[in-house]
Amino acid sequence: MISIIVAIAKNWVIGINNTIPWNIPQDRLWFKKHTLHKTIIMGRNTYESIGYALPYRHSIVLTNTMKNIYSNRLSIVNTVQEVLSLLNNDYEYLVIGGAQIYKLFFKYTNRLYITYIDLLVYGNIFFPIFNLKNWDPIYTKYKCCNKVNLCFKILEKK
Ligand SMILES: NC(=O)c1ccc[n+]([C@@H]2O[C@H](COP(=O)([O-])OP(=O)(O)OC[C@H]3O[C@@H](n4cnc5c(N)ncnc54)[C@H](OP(=O)(O)O)[C@@H]3O)[C@@H](O)[C@H]2O)c1
Repeated sequence: MISIIVAIAKNWVIGINNTIPWNIPQDRLWFKKHTLHKTIIMGRNTYESIGYALPYRHSIVLTNTMKNIYSNRLSIVNTVQEVLSLLNNDYEYLVIGGAQIYKLFFKYTNRLYITYIDLLVYGNIFFPIFNLKNWDPIYTKYKCCNKVNLCFKILEKK
C-alpha cells in the first residue's frame, strides 16, 4: 500500500527554497513514528534537502540526474514504474515528498498522513489540491507546539 505523509500550511505551502518553512518538533516526531522501519519514497530535491538517507528506513529516490544505486539503505531510480516494481503489496510505503513526487504518486495512494499547520506561510512549493470528499478521516488529533496549532489527520481513500 502507498501512503503519503506531508505537513501543509493553511495556504497549502509545503516548502520554500528546498527547505521546510517551519520548525515543529511534534511534527518531526509524527513523521518519525510513521516512517521508521518502512520504505520512504522521495524526489531528488527532498533527498538533497535532507542530505542523507534517513536511518532505520529504506529510501527510494526518484531522479533523472543521479546515478542508479541499489542498496539496503538507498535505491536511486529513474521512473515511477521502477519505483512501483520495487514495492510489495504486503507493506506500507510512505511517499514523503516533495510536490513533484506527491503529484506523481497521488493516484496510487490509499492513505494520507497530513499535519495541518495553522499558519499562513510564505513559500514556493505547494501540496497539490485534492478533493477531501474522496477521503474518510480515520484519525484526528489536535496539538499545540511552539504556539502553533497543529492537526494530525489520517485519511483513507473511499
Ligand atoms: N512539508 C512537507 O511535508 C514536505 C515534505 C517533503 C518536501 N518538502 C519540501 O518540498 C520541496 C521539494 O519539492 P519539489 O517539488 O521541489 O521536489 P521533489 O519532488 O522533492 O523532487 C523533484 C525531483 O524529482 C525528480 N523527478 C520528478 N519527477 C520525476 C520523474 N517522473 N522521473 C524521474 N525523476 C523525477 C527530479 O529530479 P532530477 O532533477 O534529479 O531529475 C526532480 O527535480 C522542498 O522545499 C522540501 O523542503 C516539504
